[in-house]
Parts: sequence; C-alpha cells; structure tokens
Amino acid sequence: MYTKISIPNRFRLSFLFLLLFWGSVQAQVLTSPSQTLEMKFSLSGQGEPVYEVNLNSIPVILPSKLGFDLKNDDIDLLNGFQVVSTKIDSFDESWKPVWGEESQIRNHYNELLVELLQNSTGRKMLIRFRLFDEGLGFRYEFPLQEKMGYFVISEEKTQFAMTGDHKAFWIPGDYDTQEYDFTESKLSEIRGLMKTAITPNASQTPFSDTGVQTSLMMKSADGFYINLHEAALIDYPAMHLELDDQNMIFTSHLTPDAQGDKGYLYTPTTTPWRTIIVSKNAGDILASRITYNLNEPSKIEDTSWIKPMKYVGVWWEMITGKSSWSYTNDFKAIKLGETDYSKAKPNGTHGATTENVKKYIDFAAKHGFDGVLVEGWNVGWEDWFGNSKDYVFDFLTPYPDFDLKGISAYAKEKGVKMIMHHETSSSVRNYERHMDQAYQLMKDYGYPAVKSGYVGDIIPRGEYHYSQWLVNHYQYAIEKAAEYQIMVNAHEAVRPTGVARTWPNLIGNESARGTEYQAFGGSKANHVTILPFTRQIGGPMDYTPGVFEMDVFNGSHVNSTLANQMALYVTLYSPLQMAADFPENYDRFPDAFQFIKDVALDWEKSVYLEAEPGYFVTIARKAKGTGEWFVGNVNGLDGRIGEIKFDFLDPEKSYLAEIYADKADAHFKTNPQAYEIRKVSVNAKSVLKEYSAPGGGYAIRIREASKEELKGIKKLK
Ligand code: NOJ
Ligand code: CA
Repeated sequence: MYTKISIPNRFRLSFLFLLLFWGSVQAQVLTSPSQTLEMKFSLSGQGEPVYEVNLNSIPVILPSKLGFDLKNDDIDLLNGFQVVSTKIDSFDESWKPVWGEESQIRNHYNELLVELLQNSTGRKMLIRFRLFDEGLGFRYEFPLQEKMGYFVISEEKTQFAMTGDHKAFWIPGDYDTQEYDFTESKLSEIRGLMKTAITPNASQTPFSDTGVQTSLMMKSADGFYINLHEAALIDYPAMHLELDDQNMIFTSHLTPDAQGDKGYLYTPTTTPWRTIIVSKNAGDILASRITYNLNEPSKIEDTSWIKPMKYVGVWWEMITGKSSWSYTNDFKAIKLGETDYSKAKPNGTHGATTENVKKYIDFAAKHGFDGVLVEGWNVGWEDWFGNSKDYVFDFLTPYPDFDLKGISAYAKEKGVKMIMHHETSSSVRNYERHMDQAYQLMKDYGYPAVKSGYVGDIIPRGEYHYSQWLVNHYQYAIEKAAEYQIMVNAHEAVRPTGVARTWPNLIGNESARGTEYQAFGGSKANHVTILPFTRQIGGPMDYTPGVFEMDVFNGSHVNSTLANQMALYVTLYSPLQMAADFPENYDRFPDAFQFIKDVALDWEKSVYLEAEPGYFVTIARKAKGTGEWFVGNVNGLDGRIGEIKFDFLDPEKSYLAEIYADKADAHFKTNPQAYEIRKVSVNAKSVLKEYSAPGGGYAIRIREASKEELKGIKKLK
C-alpha cells in the first residue's frame, strides 16, 4: 500500500528508529518532545485503525481500535481503511490564561495526522494525534467530502486497552448525573460494586454494570498513573467508558439522545479529543494542562471583565434545611403570571429575604469578599422539581420579600457584587426562551456572574443531561452570557473538558459531588483527595468549601476536619470560591476564618508537592501579584505524617509561615474542630513534617518577612 510520509528533519532520526524498532512497515510512530512517550498507529489486516502507547518503552495502552458504528449505513466506519497519507508536525508555544493555576501554560507536542480512506465507500476519515510528554490526545476529523455529508453515530468505538487489572477511582456511568462518591477498586471488581456505587439523585440514568465516567483515574500494578478523559466537548455527546472486564478494554460509550441516537454530525467536522494522561508521578497528572491545550484559544477578545470571585451566600441554610427557597406553603402548584403571591401567607422560613440578604452583604463587605450569591429570590420555587413542569421559572420576577432594586443598590454602596441564581429545574427549553431577558436583568442590576442549575429530568422530555443537545445548550448559555459580559458557574451541567480556555467566562462548574452532599448524608472523607485527579482534570469546580460547623441543621455530619476545609481553597483550584458556612459560624472561629479571607484566588504558579489519589494531595501555589505562597494538604481516611520541602521559595528571602493544622486528636467524625495555628519562620531550606488527621489536612500562608519581624518567632528546621 502506498503511504506518503512527510517528516520534518529534526524528527526523522527518532521516527525511523522507532519504525524499525516496532518492525512494522505499516506502522506510523510518533515520539513526544522529550521522547518519554511513544505512540504507534497502524492498520490491522482488516484495515481497522489501531493505536498504542508506551511510556519509556513500557506499554500503557495496548493495541486499541478506533472507529464508529453509523446509523442507517450498511458499512460502519470500523474497517476496510487504507492510509492515504500521514503527516508529522510539532508545536511549542506558551499562552497566558485569563485565570488559572499558573500565569503561563506551555503547549508542546508532536503531531501525527493520518488520512484514511475507506475503500468500499470512498469515505475519508482523519485521525489527529497530539503527543505531549505526559500524554496523548487524539480526535477524528471528517473533511468536507462527496461521500459523507450528514451522518448519525450509533456509537463511537474508540478503545482504550489496559495492560492489566488496574486500580481505579470510578463513579457509575450515568447519562444524567456525576454526583456520586468515588469507589476505589480493581477494574475487575467494578461489576460487583456497581449496585452499591449507585446512590440516589434527582435525575439519574446509569446504563450498565461496567460503565464508568470520565475523567477516570487509574493506577497500574507497576505504578503508572493513567487518566482517561476528553477535551473540547463541543457539539457532541459526552463520552463514558464501557469496560470489557474479561480483557480490560474500555470502549467509548456516548450519551444518547431521546431517540437513542448518539450524535448528529455533518462534514466538515471534528470530534472532541480523547485524552490519556500518564506518568509514574501522580503529581504530573495534576500538573498536566493537556485538557486546556487541546482546546482553542480564547474567543473572547476583551477579557477584562472576567474576574475571580470569593463569595458567601444565602445557600447553606437551604441546603441544610434551616430555611427554604420557597416563599409560601399555600400553593400545591404555581402558574407563573397567574398565581397571586401578594395574597399568599409567607412560610416564615424563606431565606432570600431583603433583610437576610443585607446581613450577608454586610458580612461580605466587612470581611473583604467579592460577592454574595442568593438562591430562592425568584418566584416559582414552591413546586420547582419532580413534576416535569415546563414553565417553572421566569428568572425575572422576584418574590414579594426580595427587593431586587434595593438590594442591588445596597450591595453597590458596600462594594459587593451580587451573584445571580438561575435554577432551570432542567426545563432547558424554558431557560433558553428567557435567557436574553434574564441576562439583561442581570446587566441592569449589575450582577457579573450567574450560578445556573439543572436539577431533575430534562425537558424536552427524554433528553439526558449529557447528550449532544444538552452539551449544545450549556455551550449556548456560555456564549450568550459572554455577549452580556457575564461569568457562568453551571451546576449539574456536563463535566468540563477545558472549554474554559476558549470561553474563560466559564469560571466554574459543579458536575460532581459537591459540599451539598455533606448535608445530604455525607461524602467519603477522602473524596477531596480524588476530585483533583478526576473531575478537575477538565476545569475548576464550584465545590463550595469552608464549612466550620460539621454537625449541620438537618442532623447530617460533614465528613471533614476544619483544617481540611481550609486546605480545600488551595487543593481544589477554582477562580470562584465560596465560603459556604453561616456568618455566625465564622464569627465563632475568627482566627481560622482569617485564612479564608487571606487565601488567593488566582495563581502565578503551582507546585504539586505530594499526591496519591484517595490518600493525600499537597499543593503549594504562589499568588498572582502579591508574591505570597499558600500550601494546602488534604488527607484520606487514615492519619498520616507528610513531609514537604519549601524549596519552591526564593533562597534569598526569609518568610513567615502561618500553619493551620489538625490537632493530634482531630478526626473528621469525632473531633473535626480540633485545629491549631502556629507561626514559624521558614526559608527555601525548611522542611515541614506535619500530621494530618483522618479526613484532615493543613493550610499554610507564607509571606515574605524581614529579620526584625521574625525576631522571637521559632524557626522551622
Ligand atoms: C443543586 C445545586 O448544586 C445547589 O447548589 C443548588 O442550591 C440547588 N441545586 C438549587 O438550585
Ligand atoms: Ca448539585
């Protein structure tokens, strides 16, 4: 078969070497910029596209097939291909994110583009591979062509063949929710554990005994950390992974639409990138920026209005059952525009009253917070979900006891920004009908950010939260918001895939089990040691940390120590960070609250000091602008003494470190509020040995200090 290969000179040597090394004439081999990773593309005897990946010559992904099942086509896009051409290229550029874990990101990869022709149909399919030093991204491309216009995908058949029965941190595959606790098990144990892993949710559609979600984190017996996810999920359904647990092969499983179809495409088009991040060092998984790098640069030219925000809100009181979103108990059902609220008897528990909101604004102003979120401000909450109601909210009409105008003026006077809330109750069609007016209202009253939500089953009925139609809706909302210069934090939306590089007004998502579940019966105490390796691979999470009182109003217990809650501001990166607890609980612990006030939101650089999914994560970050450093450690289920070096500090300088740590007898269940604060002097040679309790951790603020200031302060050896 004729194969045209063009290789830039600088690659020719290693390329040819590997070609011989793998010994196949058909194979195309690509190495990563510093040769750590190699990937091979080949066609099987049946003309099936196949790829494989090695790290330092050790297999990570065994030969895995690529292709699609198509609807209404006798011949799928699975075999019968020939290679028309291959092209190797390289790319090395740095870019500056609007916000992030560092101020500059390097995008450095070698690329292989394979052009395939299916002989019997004349259809063209390209596969573009980008090999970074810490992983591979690849996608399918369908150029404009005579033999392929519109096509419907019944299933994408991308395989990820594992080399063994790896340990995995997984949540059940589900078309509607990601709000599950992670299960740590061998791949072969997933089937047996699936039933217990599926816990209740307002909308959920698990689809198989061996289906799991991405981002999936695994560890092999030989100590390889392997992460599977996707990047740039645009106009396509979200990908799950279906495991063949006899052979340890994952195959992509796309979220269907109401018809059971998986994707409606037309040429020219590309799929999202499928990503494999791999390293012997768990910290490298956290440091990888593959997901962002595979997304397009920002499409928003003037980004000056996009600003990280630390906020408080009328929220935890509803989540814990202390107050209500609804205004009255008078009505069984609400008809917007017809139901007369002015005659309704207030239920006395409504949280979003003008008076209560002003209390939060005062608190935010006093402690230097940027924003206040208010939920339950608009009419309709009396029967907001469970009835598959179409016209459930208008996002415009406040309750009688919420003075929209007065509150906006009050917030402005106090220098605080209001965060809007749009719960759609998953009536997505209704949200789209109101979106322009709703965003305009925000502009009129000076709200710079919206928290949206998608609780319950989707309307149009039968659609799923992660289908192509919904993916397009979330994207529509982000782009429409950008027109109004509004920042978006979407809950229950599809999990992020780095789209925030292109649309940096997407400053947060939930799309995982957030702090709210600590009030709905609790999450596993090591949950937060897994999130950075899974959910956060695609972008920041609005986890809503900062709970200081663990025994909450409805009797639930937050499985975390207070020091762990502080550490989350460093370990769970987000440009949008809430201090979720009640003002009165912060007033009880003013010294610990100080850390939440001090901690930065936007970073110049991040150093991943220690990491093991499920067990511990310790990260140091340097704040943008101030030069201060913050360190966070979150710990798993057993107490542990960690050791970190401060060699990230400037060796010429001396620093003061304020350490907020678990006391020796702290425990997430029995003694969560046992913390202590120490001040020590540190420099680049210092080493810290610190105990973290079960479900605990520590948080450190480090700032440059003069010799005088450090006089009398104990030195950390
Ligand atoms: C679920 C969200 O995650 C939560 O934060 C919000 O308060 C409720 N939906 C109501 O919108
Ligand atoms: Ca939620």
